[in-house]
Amino acid sequence: MIPPKPQPRADRVSLFTHLRLFRRDILSAQPARLYRAWMAEFRTPFFRSYLCNDPVLVRRVLEERPADFPKSARVTEGLLPLLGRSVFVTNGAEWQRQRRIIDPAFEGGRLKDSFAAIWTASEAAVARMPEGEVEVELAASHAAADVIFRTLFSIPIEDRIAQQVFHEFRAYQRSAPILNLAAFLPLPNWFPRLHRRATLRSAKVIRGLIGSITAERAAAIAAGTAPPDLATKIMTTQDPETGAAFATGEMVDQVAIFFLAGHETSASALSWALYLLATHPDAQERVAAEAVVLRPEFGVMGSLRFTRDVFREALRLYPPVPMMVRENAREEEFRGRHASKGAQVVISPWHLHRHERIWDRPDHFDPDRWAGEAREAARDGYLPFSRGPRVCPGAGFAMLEGTLMLAHLVRAFRFEALPDRVPVPVAHLTVRAKDGIWLRVTRRKTAGSESLQGSDR
Ligand code: HEM
Repeated sequence: MIPPKPQPRADRVSLFTHLRLFRRDILSAQPARLYRAWMAEFRTPFFRSYLCNDPVLVRRVLEERPADFPKSARVTEGLLPLLGRSVFVTNGAEWQRQRRIIDPAFEGGRLKDSFAAIWTASEAAVARMPEGEVEVELAASHAAADVIFRTLFSIPIEDRIAQQVFHEFRAYQRSAPILNLAAFLPLPNWFPRLHRRATLRSAKVIRGLIGSITAERAAAIAAGTAPPDLATKIMTTQDPETGAAFATGEMVDQVAIFFLAGHETSASALSWALYLLATHPDAQERVAAEAVVLRPEFGVMGSLRFTRDVFREALRLYPPVPMMVRENAREEEFRGRHASKGAQVVISPWHLHRHERIWDRPDHFDPDRWAGEAREAARDGYLPFSRGPRVCPGAGFAMLEGTLMLAHLVRAFRFEALPDRVPVPVAHLTVRAKDGIWLRVTRRKTAGSESLQGSDR
């Protein structure tokens, strides 16, 4: 069974059709040749863009000379009402300073500190999961939001403010034109940007709510009563170069991106992983067998190798961030072609992860490939978390969360695909299923869940 892949568009289409398809879904707006080509140039009257699959170019853009390829303002523009000056949208010295403060909170050694909160959120996800025909994207979204609130602010999703933020984020995602057409028109900076009213309203509500939790936390830090979670760590870390920490207002921008980047993406990966296991029952049984060892100690992660490879393979087939866009800060030459300053450079995990010249059986789900051949192919064709200095700071965190959630859910439940509900992948900001991912969920007879408290006794 080959997991669903979007129908590519015809090789040649008019600019109008391209933009229309692009607005609907950036995956089906692409021609099939991008799964074989090393590069493709798109010419429009407004701009040129280069989709680069050539590993040499990918390395140049992301790792060797990232300063010459800043994030494209055209693409992040739609997110500004929500994210302000967050690390996701900034460039240059402003971005460097933000990373110097954020990165220590996610360093390898500190991952352990988030384990207990992720464990508790996984147990809560099991307790919340209904049986019968279930839309698992919504369940995964709930679970991922719970993880973010527990690890950042030590509050569960049931908390009143957490609930409000969660619901507003869902409204925001429905209303936000993630890749708005204006992004592709060369409008001058003074031209008013037309964000939809609902998007602006949601962004304002979310920022207000985050503002109140952040202010509360600043007060707790001052009083010496703050819990030792990610928010406290980030708010008390001083920039090693200037000695200054984030002001409370700046922290609102960062919390907004942690929530958006860390919740949408993890929920997408988890729900596709569940779908892949539902359609590959043998692999699902292997995950269930591995999960028997689950215990609330960080060391257990070393025993969940196959589960981790399932999650890795889900990230390969359905990378939550399907494309990343940068801009040429100066003239470049790409595979013998001249690319002018300002040209858009697209790095596409979606195409690299399924590239026919890099991967063997690129469209098949095969978690065992990670124990062998995949490691070599991954060097050139696997970047679900990007690479280089702008790599996702939450990568290790997300691998821990995905593996642990998957093990918990599959230990407790059997997931089966519904033949008349094959999900169709589409991408706006992240890769989702067009009408959700529906699976039949049945509780396993042997399921039991050891609680953190229980084992402490
Ligand atoms: C499966 C889950 C995740 C995936 C696939 C993912 C993927 C990515 C990718 C591809 C980027 C680079 C985007 C670009 O350069 O255009 C990124 C950036 C980022 N991610 Fe993640 N992410 C995940 C989870 C998380 C989590 C859990 C957090 C934090 C709690 C997080 C925080 C961030 C931040 C702050 C950035 C911006 C970094 C920068 O621009 O310097 N992500 N992520």
